[in-house]
Amino acid sequence: MTTRVTTKDAGIERILIGAEAIQARVAELAAELDERYEGDPPLLVGVLTGAVSFMVDLMRAMDSPVEIDFMAVSSYGASTRSSGVVQILKDLSQPIEGRHLVIVEDIVDSGLTLQYLLEVLRTRSPASLRVVALLKKDKPDAIEVQVDAVGFVIPDEFVVGYGLDYAGMYRNLPYVGVLDASAVKG
Ligand code: IMP
Ligand code: MG
Repeated sequence: MTTRVTTKDAGIERILIGAEAIQARVAELAAELDERYEGDPPLLVGVLTGAVSFMVDLMRAMDSPVEIDFMAVSSYGASTRSSGVVQILKDLSQPIEGRHLVIVEDIVDSGLTLQYLLEVLRTRSPASLRVVALLKKDKPDAIEVQVDAVGFVIPDEFVVGYGLDYAGMYRNLPYVGVLDASAVKG
């Protein structure tokens, strides 16, 4: 059972990336995408649920008339470690053959989720396929996986906020933070 906390930042030990720094970097990433896809706007594919904040801010910061869609894949449940098993829980709601695709991810940790998504989406023959991740953990044993743009490289710690959760909580924080050890169970 998760203990119900009284404020959304209860249990946060420290802020790793502040809200303003996130917004500034998102604006840069949006500008890069606008430039790259000028005249040929992509379909942004957000990976639920963690990428929601990033997806919304990124698309609003872009000038291009993008379309969006979402996929959901299984994640860690209430654990802070990857099970290594990836499964599609919700697929795209449209065919993507011949489309320019940008996968919008919250964080690349082991790289397993992204590797699997890229494999699946490549079989559907998009015109192109790129990956934008807000965060990437500095992790020597991670899989070598395609990531074309990264917002921030972070230390190999479990983080929450700005879409990222621990046991379903903390997604609505405007910043990325590290949990107090006492807030983490198991
Ligand atoms: P990967 O498959 O190990 O690269 O991890 C993929 C997914 O696990 C991410 O898209 C996140 O949703 C989740 N995840 C990985 N690291 C963290 C973290 O530090 N906090 C919260 N969620 C995480
Ligand atoms: Mg994710």
